[in-house]
Amino acid sequence: MPLIDRETVQRILDAADIVEVVSDFVSLRKSGANYKGLCPFHNERTPSFSVNKARNICKCFSCGKGGSPVNFIMEHEQMTFNEALRYLARKYNIEIQERELTEQERAAASRSEALMALNAFALKHFESNLHDTAEGRSQALSYLRHRGISDAMIERFHLGYAIDKGTDLLDAARRAGFNTELMVETGLEGRSQRDGSLYDRYRGRVIFPIHTLSGRVVGFGARTMRSDKNIAKYVNSPESEIYHKKKELYGMHQARHAIARADKCIMVEGYFDVISMHQAGVGNVVASSGTSLTEEQIRVIRRFTRNMTLIYDGDAAGVKASLRGIKLLLSEDMNVKVLALPPEDDPDTFARSRSSSEVEAYLCENETDIIAFMASKLTSGIKADDPIGRAEAINEILRTLAFVDDPIKMQEYISMCSRMLGSPEDVLMRQLNVFRATRFEDLEKEHLRGSVSQDTPAESIPSSTLHQEISETPVAEQHDVTLRPYERQLVQYIVRYGLLEIDNDNGGGRTTVFDMIDSALEGDGYVFSYPPFTALCDAFRRVRDNEWPSARLRRIAEIDEECAERLSSRRAEIRNTGGSLPELEKAEKMAIAETEAFRDDAIRDFDVRFMQNALVNCPDDDIRNIASTLMMERYVLSRIYSRQGTVLTEKEQLRTLVPRAVNELRSAVVASMIRNLNKSLESFPADDPGAIEIMHRLAQLKVYQYNLVKGLGERIIQPLSK
Ligand code: CTP
Ligand code: MN
Repeated sequence: MPLIDRETVQRILDAADIVEVVSDFVSLRKSGANYKGLCPFHNERTPSFSVNKARNICKCFSCGKGGSPVNFIMEHEQMTFNEALRYLARKYNIEIQERELTEQERAAASRSEALMALNAFALKHFESNLHDTAEGRSQALSYLRHRGISDAMIERFHLGYAIDKGTDLLDAARRAGFNTELMVETGLEGRSQRDGSLYDRYRGRVIFPIHTLSGRVVGFGARTMRSDKNIAKYVNSPESEIYHKKKELYGMHQARHAIARADKCIMVEGYFDVISMHQAGVGNVVASSGTSLTEEQIRVIRRFTRNMTLIYDGDAAGVKASLRGIKLLLSEDMNVKVLALPPEDDPDTFARSRSSSEVEAYLCENETDIIAFMASKLTSGIKADDPIGRAEAINEILRTLAFVDDPIKMQEYISMCSRMLGSPEDVLMRQLNVFRATRFEDLEKEHLRGSVSQDTPAESIPSSTLHQEISETPVAEQHDVTLRPYERQLVQYIVRYGLLEIDNDNGGGRTTVFDMIDSALEGDGYVFSYPPFTALCDAFRRVRDNEWPSARLRRIAEIDEECAERLSSRRAEIRNTGGSLPELEKAEKMAIAETEAFRDDAIRDFDVRFMQNALVNCPDDDIRNIASTLMMERYVLSRIYSRQGTVLTEKEQLRTLVPRAVNELRSAVVASMIRNLNKSLESFPADDPGAIEIMHRLAQLKVYQYNLVKGLGERIIQPLSK
């Protein structure tokens, strides 16, 4: 779809009124300054969906969904960003001006467009092989039928077949004019090691196309029809410019409406599992395709629901193996249930051997909350006279519970565990708090393990490079999850107040909130550990440098006009009071000062809102989602009191809070570096020069940390000198 011209986008965003947009789907009632209604994203009896007209955003305080008008439409109608803009344009009778892509965009777009076009071509070819060739029908179609897959599902999931010849697809794609290099990049073709010739990688296999959420084909899984254990069961697309394994979920495109409708997503492992469940009438099912769930995948699902049911094959070993996935789900605030199938079944055989109402009924009756499930599984095999075994099981459960952030949920879980395990709540709670404290360290360790095992093993790095790296890298841990909350706080200030000018304590000048943060981090050589935060900052700069200045000038012209009107009407009023000349002069002075204050406020208000609006409506999914989440949180500024006991204004608070948040991040970075240095110290003999160097560095860091902590301790704002 061509892009919409920037000015048109702005016009649409300006026109879209959150109350009007939401009212098309939800009946709203006024409640104080806001509007309230029943949340359209989940079932509820008492309204927790709130619409804030002034800030032009909405939010459900129960399920957390909402955002700008565009976000609301995307979510509610399950549209892409562009589609939502077009919807709003229709609603507000705005004519869409499309724009030409820039050269750069065209190059980037044309490359991934070409890859997509190639995949679309290949899929058509595979589908026609399955239905229209003798080989396809006798081999693949009969295989699928033999496995009980209906024609309707073959069509719905666009299953296909790759002719078992070697260059069938290659020849067809060449004839159609496709570039062979791209065919290698998408993994449709492989290059023979012997003579460099190309061959169809999926030849002789049944094809499962992998669709993005919006239905474009980015990859394939290809299953052999032979039961020979020496052949790989599946050959899959490699990572490419358009296929990111970590982001895609098999079946998401077909399941998305059902997931939203059921307000639940069911996870299974394989292609056949998804298809058989759909065939049995359970449409809200997707697969992680054999890998463990990633954060990106969870975030895709979370746009549709917070409720997830994991289906396990009969054996309980699977539960332990996927603990990490469960922790990730819990820390993303998902409600997780599990469902154990009868021991002889996997979802595929299970769904095929039952009617759809039997499947539904089984799901309803047997899904169990994950923590309850773990508690019963882990303790069931333990004898009454095995206190150590019991303690270990309880600890395992509490370690998982440590990933629940919502205090109410956590309390509920503790009560439940106390009942199920027969331990007092306060004992469990104390232990849970210990695990919560180490939760981030655990995650960090797992992360380190994960990244080490992929690269060279740590032992094989000679010690000289190791300590060289340590002394040369300014900030050692760039991918440290413990830093995320501190980074998030800074990003929240940027989203909410980025363009606001505040006084700069060390120089007397004025600077914006964004520049204060940006220059501090740049000075430290620090890059956010979470790439979307960096992307958000880049978007901020783009808006600030391109769109903001001219929009601001236009707005200032309006404000000035309004000020002139205000002032002249005040002057008329003053003259009519008929006071003495000095009185009139004084009143006039006051009117001028008031008008100036009004002008400052109006401009400041515009600046803040303009940026918020731009970020909350950013076409980039990550940036838009982060910005709306950070915007929708209710309380950002704490109530800080000066020594005189007056509440400080937002602006006065930011002058203190922003540098403090920067220092909090610094402090967390240093703590993380100290932890890492201590760890690497263990690998040196005590008198090794490397060890001594690390100890020096540790000493330096500790001094730095001490100074930071001292700075952080000053929580009360100094009184103004009297
Ligand atoms: N998988 C893979 N490569 C393999 C084995 C498995 O990519 N060699 C992925 C596939 O996405 C597969 C999923 O892991 O769908 C689950 O594996 P499995 O249960 O073995 O495969 P099924 O698709 O269920 O196939 P079948 O029922 O025919 O055994
Ligand atoms: Mn299977």
